[in-house]
Amino acid sequence: MCGIIGIVGREPVAGHLVDSLKRLEYRGYDSAGVATLEPGGVLTRRRAEGKLRNLEARLAKEPLVGLVGIGHTRWATHGAPTESNAHPHATARVAIVHNGIIENFRELRDELIAAGQVFSSETDSEVVAQLVDHHLGAGLSPELAVAAALKRLKGAFALAFLFPADDDLVVGARRGSPLAVGWGDGEMYLGSDALALAPFTDRITYLEEGDWVAIRRGGAVIHDETDAVVARPLTVVSASAFQVDRGNYRHFMAKEIHEQPEVIGHTLARYIDLAAERIRLPATLPFDWAKLDRLTIVACGTAFYAGLTAKYWFEQFARLPVEIDVASEFRYREPPLADNGLALFVSQSGETADTLASLRYCKAHGLHTAAVVNVPTSTIAREAEIVFPTLAGPEIGVASTKAFTCQLVVMACLAIAAGKARGRLSEAEEHTLVRALGELPGLLARALKAEPKIERLARQIAKARDVIYLGRGSSFPIALEGALKLKEISYIHSEGYAAGELKHGPIALIDETMPVVVIAPHDRTYEKTVSNMQEVAARGGRIVLITCEKGAAEASVPTLETIVMPDMPPEIAPVVYAVPIQMLAYHTAVFMGTDVDQPRNLAKSVTVE
Ligand code: M6R
Repeated sequence: MCGIIGIVGREPVAGHLVDSLKRLEYRGYDSAGVATLEPGGVLTRRRAEGKLRNLEARLAKEPLVGLVGIGHTRWATHGAPTESNAHPHATARVAIVHNGIIENFRELRDELIAAGQVFSSETDSEVVAQLVDHHLGAGLSPELAVAAALKRLKGAFALAFLFPADDDLVVGARRGSPLAVGWGDGEMYLGSDALALAPFTDRITYLEEGDWVAIRRGGAVIHDETDAVVARPLTVVSASAFQVDRGNYRHFMAKEIHEQPEVIGHTLARYIDLAAERIRLPATLPFDWAKLDRLTIVACGTAFYAGLTAKYWFEQFARLPVEIDVASEFRYREPPLADNGLALFVSQSGETADTLASLRYCKAHGLHTAAVVNVPTSTIAREAEIVFPTLAGPEIGVASTKAFTCQLVVMACLAIAAGKARGRLSEAEEHTLVRALGELPGLLARALKAEPKIERLARQIAKARDVIYLGRGSSFPIALEGALKLKEISYIHSEGYAAGELKHGPIALIDETMPVVVIAPHDRTYEKTVSNMQEVAARGGRIVLITCEKGAAEASVPTLETIVMPDMPPEIAPVVYAVPIQMLAYHTAVFMGTDVDQPRNLAKSVTVE
């Protein structure tokens, strides 16, 4: 989603604003802009459609030299991604940048137009600039004008404001979208996340829900939603949070795929005691696995597919009934919740608007809440009763890869812990499962060796108009994830189905032009999946079989290609089989020349509904 940066500095800030925006590119955007206060307090903007290089070109021709400024990458929601809709939006008295959606902008716009304000864009965001301008015109100070405007806004947002009347001030506000304050030496910063502030400082204060802040060169004054001055903790962010280097890889996605053996190792080290072959969770949990009647898992996109995989584990290992839903449906269907229930929210960013709203719904209804989150400082991490972090490190590619497999591993550990606590798994079974998990880093490294073969295969997949993915049991969510990965970065239409569903409709699509990727580890449903492959082969479909050595030896079906994974216990197969489907999507997209790390129309963190 949109990215925000603000700097009250001691040297010209335009270059720093753009550098910082580059670190927010991963969030997805389609236009960008900066505004600074030029000598004499003249508010000046530079904005451009498309990538940041266009904004840089504009700044090279028409440089800005102001010492205080705000910047923005915009992911269009209301109004096309044009220069006039790009942020900052400005009047003579204020410039603003905005992430999120102002839900009541139409009503406010009508009211402000009636009061004489003149609008120049189609965006919901401009209403904020006009509203603050209106209050400034009535004689309020910049801070009070912002405070008054915030009380009128409905929706989820983060905002930064710049005022020509004060060259030692940027004001920020957050409600629903993250915003952080960076503490420098005689300089102060605002940013959507710590990554944006990494070039300047590692000393960060995360604003809480409803907070607004005035930053000046000498420091920051933070107010809560009642306008009371509040103290928020200052955190020194670890260097690892700033690791955003592509290394020798062509794309972040490639780097992140290859990091999986390592980050899965880190994540496992947190959740298992390999020597004792035991799961290791915090000593005190806010809920008792043994007393739970139901587990409700809520997430979006790839995180939802991780949750769907975990459903199989929780049901198999712990005999715990699992309800799972995508957050955008869950939050509005107002589901009845079990009295002794736990709701588990899965999110890489920890900022996904629908997942966060679902968490708040469950909390409001007295359910225990837990989150599997990759960004430990995120809103979901802070609002859940307990957080089970994934230690994937920063994930920059919009297509989620290493966060997905880390989510799987964390939830596998939780399911084993639940099984043990509920008396459904013996100590010996726990040992066996933990030993299997311990093999994952090595298995993932071996899975990556299939890359040259997958790269060659990708050239054929790139010619397809549609691709079908099939899987049974816990391979079904991996089929769904494979289809999502392919469509989001290569733009090839792809769908995942439970293999047993093939006959109930999708088989009508099969002809000799249709690649069918079958995810079939040699597990108890392998034979059934082979029958489904035969049905595909009989209709001329071109099968790409992803299986293990044993499965490859027994597959009696002609394939376009067979990708062989190592043999492994079936329980951990979803983690390993995620790797070939990620590589297939990646190489297909590279071959097609798409923008792999920032695919069109997509944002890394979906902070609007
Ligand atoms: O940050 P989250 O895990 O909550 O994000 C959820 C989805 O937006 C995300 O997984 C999305 O589907 C990815 N682009 C998938 O690669």
